[in-house]
Amino acid sequence: MSLVVLLLLGGWQISRQNLTASEFVSYAVAVAMLIDPIAHLTDNYNQFKQGEASVDRIFELLALKPLVIETTGAIALPPVTGKVELRNVWFSYPGTAGNGSGPVLKGISFLACPGESVALVGSSGAGKTTLVNLLLRFYDPEAGQVLLDGVDVRAATLESLRRQIGLVPQETILFTGTIAQNIAFGQTHWEADAVEAAAKIANAHQFIVQLPQGYATYVGERGVNLSGGTATALGDRAGSAEKSPDFDFR
Ligand SMILES: Nc1ncnc2c1ncn2[C@@H]1O[C@H](COP(=O)(O)OP(=O)(O)O)[C@@H](O)[C@H]1O
Ligand SMILES: [Mg+2]
Repeated sequence: MSLVVLLLLGGWQISRQNLTASEFVSYAVAVAMLIDPIAHLTDNYNQFKQGEASVDRIFELLALKPLVIETTGAIALPPVTGKVELRNVWFSYPGTAGNGSGPVLKGISFLACPGESVALVGSSGAGKTTLVNLLLRFYDPEAGQVLLDGVDVRAATLESLRRQIGLVPQETILFTGTIAQNIAFGQTHWEADAVEAAAKIANAHQFIVQLPQGYATYVGERGVNLSGGTATALGDRAGSAEKSPDFDFR
């Protein structure tokens, strides 16, 4: 359309002798040269707007204040043996007060000793996952205490607490990248040997080497199917072969 309009206008102006043919040609070439940059500008503007929306969402997340804050003067938890104790723990999820559901945990107490395998059994929604969330301090109880080796988890630094707990969540979260990168996630520096050793402890090595590209196999988010169920393994990450929970790759 613009080309037709340009030619019509040009022809009309030439016929009225306002324009010479050579002037018209240079004018037409100038217009043709402008088309590309203008297309780029509108393209970039669209991309900019999309980026702006993404940045808004990222900053929404960054602005969130964590509910669990490290206590001032928290101590680094020494290597634990894995004595887990709950003392009269009460808990409701934030924002659920007054919706009639009541607390999720009501006065829970128990003791799990090092070396014991403990299964929490209960119907769906009974609060099993919630208990595990409290142990890792994803939430703090409203009343009562969660103790690891006799130390209230609130007295320990989050890093020293979580570093000593292995969690196999119900919903498996994978990041876009290779299997090796997913295993080494969170480490700033890692060796292929260490990744393989970890995979062997988790009974995953055999499955991984059967894949066409082994540890370099690329998995997308949630790209590999793992069987569900929640389990935690306490103790030294590297040396807990016997204690680590079994799980199957489907
Ligand atoms: N993030 C959450 N916010 C609000 N309520 C939750 C949240 N997670 C779980 N709940 C509620 O807490 C109760 C216990 O959940 P959960 O610990 O996941 O049960 P289980 O693992 O035993 O199936 C359920 O009623 C569930 O709806
Ligand atoms: Mg659960």
